[in-house]
Parts: sequence; C-alpha cells; structure tokens
Amino acid sequence: MNMLEKAFEKSKTLEKNKSTITEPEKTQNNDLSITETVEPKKAKLKNHQDIVKFDWDFLKSNGFIMVDDSHSRIAEEYRAIKRPLVTNAIGSRKSDIKNSNLILITSSVPGEGKTFTSINLAFSIAAEMDKKVLLIDADVAKPSIAKVLGIESKVGLIDFLETDTLQLSDIILQTEIPGLRIITAGKSHKFSTELLASDKMIALSKELSERYSDRIVIFDTPPLLATTQAEVLASQMGQVILVVAAEKTPQSYVLESTKKLQNCSDIVLGVLNKAQRTLNASYYGYGHY
Ligand SMILES: Nc1ncnc2c1ncn2[C@@H]1O[C@H](COP(=O)(O)OP(=O)(O)O)[C@@H](O)[C@H]1O
Ligand SMILES: [Mg+2]
Repeated sequence: MNMLEKAFEKSKTLEKNKSTITEPEKTQNNDLSITETVEPKKAKLKNHQDIVKFDWDFLKSNGFIMVDDSHSRIAEEYRAIKRPLVTNAIGSRKSDIKNSNLILITSSVPGEGKTFTSINLAFSIAAEMDKKVLLIDADVAKPSIAKVLGIESKVGLIDFLETDTLQLSDIILQTEIPGLRIITAGKSHKFSTELLASDKMIALSKELSERYSDRIVIFDTPPLLATTQAEVLASQMGQVILVVAAEKTPQSYVLESTKKLQNCSDIVLGVLNKAQRTLNASYYGYGHY
C-alpha cells in the first residue's frame, strides 16, 4: 500500500470513529466552496515597488500559519510537509529532478484547500532565513491569493501572459516577509484558463526553473477535473501536490486525478487536508504517489 492509500485508509478509520473525534477547529461546512466571510485589511499598493503587508489577525483567525510562531500544530505540520519538497527543490535531490524548484498545487475539485496549502507552504518555507519563495496565483478562473492576503494590485499573471509590454519584474510583488514574493492572478479574462497552457506560460515556467533555480516557485492552480490546462501546467513542474479534502472528495475523483498526473511530473505528493483531529492522528496525511 503506498502512502496515499494509507492516508485514505486513515481517513476511512476517522470516519468510522467519528463519535470519538474531537471537533475540528474551523472546517465544519459540508460543501467545498470558499467560506471567507470577513475580509482582510487591504494592502493597497500605490507603486508596484511597495511592500505588501499582511493582515495577520485575519490570517490567524482563518487558520493560517504565523511566520513567527514555529510551535503551533499547523506550523509543525507544514514543516513536515515542506521538508521533502525543499530537499527535492534545492537540496540534495535537486539534480535528479527536472524543474525541481517548480511546485504545483492542485486538487480534483474546488474548495479542497489549494490556496490554503499554497499560502501556508509559501509562508513556512519563506520563514526560513536563507530560503526564497515565489507564490503565483495561477488559479486564474477563481483567483483568491490576492483576496485572502488582502492585496490590491493592478497587474498579475494574466496581464503578463496576454500582453508583450510587461516584464516579469513588473508583476512580482515584494512582501514584508523578505524571502517571499508574490504574483497575483491579475485581471480576469475570458480565456484566462486557456492562457495557462499557452506557449508564453510554458516559456515562463522554463525561465523560472532556469533563471530562478535558487527560488522555490509555488503555483496555486485550477482543479484538475475542471479544466485540461491544469494538466498541461503540471507537465512543466518538477513536483506536484494533490490536495485531497478528507472525508469529502469521492475516492473516484482522487483516482481520476492521480491518473491524470501520472505522466505529468516526476514527483506527485498527496496532502490529506481538513482531516478531523483526534489525539493520535495527525491533521494532515502526506502521501507519496
Ligand atoms: N486545513 C484547513 N484548516 C482551516 N481552513 C481550511 C483548511 N483548508 C482549507 N480551509 C478553508 O476552506 C476554504 C476552501 O479552501 P481553499 O484553499 O480556498 O480551496 P481551493 O483553493 O482548493 O478552492 C477556505 O476558506 C480555506 O481557508
Ligand atoms: Mg483557491
């Protein structure tokens, strides 16, 4: 049994033992859609060079990790999740994996926690003194990184992809975390999802893996079963994380997604998200596909 299967087994056991499970902290809604009700304070950028400041109270109340708190359970769990990714991306396994610094975060359907995982991973890695992270919102049909992080920026990935007038440096935002930079999705566009599979996007991925090989690039992308472009993008990435909402996503969806990813990337890891907590079980399962 591989680790992803073990994670499923664990999720089934949790289902069986529901009466003994302690209440999860904040994921009681039964649909998989976005549930942000309170908005973060907006970081309005006058100039592109302005530094993005985050609304830490909002992020904390929504369960995100705090970069200055390494002791919380969520920070600990993300430490375990990021370790193999970082080793593959810029550590000892770097040369074995093509485009190893490019990490794509996807899921089968919306609402499983792609954005939550992307932001937490980016925070967790960037909190390490010597690590540099670029977080890109490539879920262009349903962008939410700017919304969750309270960023009001004029240009982003879509603007870069659809015009020839912008340089990469024009769309990269600096943040108050020195190692973290962000590219938002930018303006919405009728064919935004199609642009993800465009030659320009493929060229951008190539540039990010070659010119920025010391930087870990995290792509928050559309769900796999909704569009074919996510698959095309996945084939450009060295590592792919499939986020699975525990006890919600039908197993057939996950199997279909793993099948789609099979030929896309060297490394595919599964993160079991939103699993209910027990005293002994970890919040997240982590599987190797
Ligand atoms: N492990 C988690 N703990 C707490 N809240 C979570 C967790 N995972 C996801 N959420 C919340 O669930 C909602 C959907 O997650 P999101 O990351 O937006 O999904 P996706 O990007 O896959 O559509 C968001 O409000 C998010 O903050
Ligand atoms: Mg999202």
